[in-house]
Amino acid sequence: MDNTSKKEILSGLKEKCSRCRACALCETRTNVVFGKGNENAPVMFVGEAPGEKEDLSGEPFVGAAGKLLDKYLTYIGLGLGDVYIANVLKCRPPHNRDPLPEEEDACIGFLLGQIEAVKPKVIVCLGRISAMRLIGGDFRITRDHGKWFEFHGVPISAVYHPAALLRDPRKKQEMIIDFEMLEQKLKNLTD
Ligand code: URA
Repeated sequence: MDNTSKKEILSGLKEKCSRCRACALCETRTNVVFGKGNENAPVMFVGEAPGEKEDLSGEPFVGAAGKLLDKYLTYIGLGLGDVYIANVLKCRPPHNRDPLPEEEDACIGFLLGQIEAVKPKVIVCLGRISAMRLIGGDFRITRDHGKWFEFHGVPISAVYHPAALLRDPRKKQEMIIDFEMLEQKLKNLTD
């Protein structure tokens, strides 16, 4: 797929997403939060759902969790031009509650479309919600973070959600190890 068709597919999906009324979250959202970054990136990060700042701005991971994510990306030499970032849900759940199964079911087609268009070489789930959705329902973040699985032939892993590190800074050391592992994985792809 050439770059123009990737961009076209993503902007078509984004347009459809911006008009989506498939679940009740459309009633309370300010903005749909589709995705950001480079559509040719080798690595795609998948978070959970927009928070307050994301709902207001229309961009994923712009709040406190996003700033922490940026630090880990910088630590392994990556910037927004090297990654694509999206969420399982494109609309904010009220009071940042966990997504409901029916909300995920209504929204998942957009994420799958993004994965299909971007064709990342590696997918990294941020937290348990996206890991349980893309890796498997029995995924346990404390047990399984930093391990590699497959998503339709694409290597996929999960790390702690940055918001979890804000609540429990003791997890930061494990996050560093997981990002170093990701750095190595990306390096192996280009060797
Ligand atoms: N948390 C998420 O999972 N996604 C965002 O975009 C922001 C916070």
